[in-house]
Amino acid sequence: MYGYEEFSKDVFRLTGIDLSLYKERQMKRRIEALIARHKLSGFQDFVGAIKTDKDLYEDFLSYLTINVSEFYRNPVQWKTLENTMLPRLLQKTNGRPLKVWSAACSTGDEPYSLVMLLAKSMPIERVTVDATDIDKQILEKAQQGIYNGKSLKGLPDEYKKKYFEQIGRDSFKISDDVKKRVKFRQHNLLADKYQTGYDLILCRNVMIYFTEEAKEEIYRNFYKSLTPGGVLFVGSTEQMIHSDEIGFKSEASFFYIKP
Ligand SMILES: C[S@@+](CC[C@H](N)C(=O)[O-])C[C@H]1O[C@@H](n2cnc3c(N)ncnc32)[C@H](O)[C@@H]1O
Repeated sequence: MYGYEEFSKDVFRLTGIDLSLYKERQMKRRIEALIARHKLSGFQDFVGAIKTDKDLYEDFLSYLTINVSEFYRNPVQWKTLENTMLPRLLQKTNGRPLKVWSAACSTGDEPYSLVMLLAKSMPIERVTVDATDIDKQILEKAQQGIYNGKSLKGLPDEYKKKYFEQIGRDSFKISDDVKKRVKFRQHNLLADKYQTGYDLILCRNVMIYFTEEAKEEIYRNFYKSLTPGGVLFVGSTEQMIHSDEIGFKSEASFFYIKP
């Protein structure tokens, strides 16, 4: 019988996304809901449909990867980044530009927030942020840089005033000065090679979807990607269980340092 396992294999062949590395119960429930919404009869029927219907295929990918984001998500943690972690990093790099990566950046809210924060400590022309996501469509949206008020609700006013222009009733455009500082590219955390030499990596609100084994592998890869003294900033429900086994030191909640 064609079940979730067969479906996962077909999805891997079609998309390169390995569903077996995502938590099964949660993923299965989401996909079943999508199948029901499209009034299809089951996994096999659904695979047939995404093979022939390009729009459904794109919808499926976006739906799978859950793109919710917002600027300055979890403000208390951004304050820790600003007041505790950044001064340390700037001291460590001693004038060299910081190498920063926002992994699984979704609509760009996170890398753009980083640019605004970093530009408080250095001229904005010296800031660059690498931003990656598995979802190509969402990266295109990120590059457009247009947001609604809800995405901006947690962002301090000083940034809103300085870096956004209101272009519609509930539509705000980010300034080119910020936009130019972010380099977007597609990257699959579960399959692609990781670049090295990073001083700061943010990877937030994506690990929750992965199996324990996949998470462990990703954290090890981040460790290798960081320079000594480098910082990994994780999501608010994503604290690492075996951080010391990997080699990280945890100095504040949600922040891990490579000694
Ligand atoms: C909930 S968003 C998180 C956005 C942002 N980091 C934040 O915390 O607001 C999760 C993102 O992870 C991306 N994602 C899912 N699986 C991925 C993978 N294997 N590799 C890279 N990105 C992935 C999704 O496309 C989605 O944009």
